[in-house]
Amino acid sequence: MKIIRAENYNDMSRKAANIIAAQVILKPDSVLGLATGGTPLGIYKQLVEWYKKGDVDFSEVTTVNLDEYRGLPKEHNQSYWHFMQVNLFNHINIKANHVYIPNGSDMNIERVCKEYDDIIQSVGGIDLQLLGIGNDGHIGFNEPSTVFETGTHCVNLTESTIEANKRFFQSREEVPKQAYTMGIKAIMQAEKVLMVANGESKADIIKKALFGPVTPEIPASILQIHHDFVLVADKAALSEIDVAI
Ligand code: F6R
Repeated sequence: MKIIRAENYNDMSRKAANIIAAQVILKPDSVLGLATGGTPLGIYKQLVEWYKKGDVDFSEVTTVNLDEYRGLPKEHNQSYWHFMQVNLFNHINIKANHVYIPNGSDMNIERVCKEYDDIIQSVGGIDLQLLGIGNDGHIGFNEPSTVFETGTHCVNLTESTIEANKRFFQSREEVPKQAYTMGIKAIMQAEKVLMVANGESKADIIKKALFGPVTPEIPASILQIHHDFVLVADKAALSEIDVAI
């Protein structure tokens, strides 16, 4: 495990974007596992800027996103599909048929999950997986008590996650109650895992996940045993960690 300390959100975003850009430069046909949520926004903005300057080329890149709300059509302005188009894909030269996100509008759980696991396998697995972390330690939508060996599956979102995500919807009632998520298995099989975290609200869970016991109660704790795990976090998110980094 490697921890990279950033000064603030912008610094975290730039450092993490540098790692992703280096991955794409070194292996132009990389498979990137991508995340949504508030934390990666600055990374995507930075990557778009570097793309526009001609520094990074996404023409051979494939992406597989972590998750999607079950029951939201692509076009919904809070679908993760929509999020990815608006914040990244519309602004770079990635091929539309190289982009994969679980199909949230398909209510057939078995079909969606099997299709997604087949996709991850057919693209040859993930070279670099980008992750945020939920306040309860979830990664993707793998909520506490998730079995570490799971493939793509459908989850009931916890109250804590619904509460955290309501900021993106008109009301709490509008937040979908279920999501499709890539399983911990595919995340752990990624060649490299890059987690980003910022702000004081993440300090407690970062400490528990990375320095506490490895337990399904804190899904992110499994990353302690990943062979190439990097956390880029700002000072606030690292404020509970009392070991020297
Ligand atoms: C999003 C995802 C989630 C988020 C997590 C943190 O695709 O998989 O695990 O990374 O909920 O969200 P933010 O970044 O909004 O704090």
